Amino acid sequence: MDRYSFAKDLARKAGAILLEGYENSGEVHKKGEIDLVTEYDLRSERRVVDEIQRVFPEDSILAEEGGEHQQGSGFWVLDPLDGTVNFAHGVPIFCVSLAYLEKGRPLLGVIYDPLRDDLFHAQHGQGAWLGDRRLKVSKVTTLNQSLLVTGFAYDIRTRSDNNLDHFTNLSLRTQGVRRLGSAALDLAYVAAGYFDGYWEMLTYPWDIAVGVLLVTEAGGVVSCADGSQLDVKRPTSVAATNGIIHAELLATLANGALPPQEQDN
Ligand code: IPD
Ligand code: CA
Ligand code: CA
Repeated sequence: MDRYSFAKDLARKAGAILLEGYENSGEVHKKGEIDLVTEYDLRSERRVVDEIQRVFPEDSILAEEGGEHQQGSGFWVLDPLDGTVNFAHGVPIFCVSLAYLEKGRPLLGVIYDPLRDDLFHAQHGQGAWLGDRRLKVSKVTTLNQSLLVTGFAYDIRTRSDNNLDHFTNLSLRTQGVRRLGSAALDLAYVAAGYFDGYWEMLTYPWDIAVGVLLVTEAGGVVSCADGSQLDVKRPTSVAATNGIIHAELLATLANGALPPQEQDN
């Protein structure tokens, strides 16, 4: 089986495990004061890791809950449940995110939202898709007309660069800023054109590897929040947009809190 079809099937299987646990998330443990892990993060991860090891025993895996299983030049990156806090509270916004990287770049990836049965997928150079619908980023031309989405790292209580200043600033310069609680879906929704842009100050490979591929394959632009080139293999800030508003978003992130702009539309 090719890795692309394999990833789509496997994300659906992991999604089915999450559905079993939804509204009955079982045991919840704390990794940090507000950083949770449920029994279903672990079950979903176990299933995906076992299946990869069975079908592609030579492949290595970087999975959120298990850490690194020795990385080669080609490896899988897995978030077995992105949106754990939502899941643990019964909020219906969460997904599985599974990417395959070669030479440090995502070659293919799948994000599966089991409640909506939304399967986002992309292969390098082959476009981004939701099921069999090809995705295209939005055409919004200014921040003033845009709807953005963001997220906050689990060290929000202690980190000085905790994104709250940017959240305030951009809330005053856009049509709104949402906080859905799933970085993978945030990026998938930028690829789909629902949102015009997304940023976050600290993400991990499993949060963004698939989403970055989806956005670029849908015609958008992705960078670090300071505009530098993003490396999905490392913890990083991220800014992802339809491309048209990218420079304006970066400039606003760089300038910090400014007064709201004059209306430009
Ligand atoms: C988190 C979510 C959240 C984002 C955090 C992530 P998790 O992942 O994607 O939206 O703001 O940075 O860590 O813990 O639900 O897998
Ligand atoms: Ca995550
Ligand atoms: Ca997770």
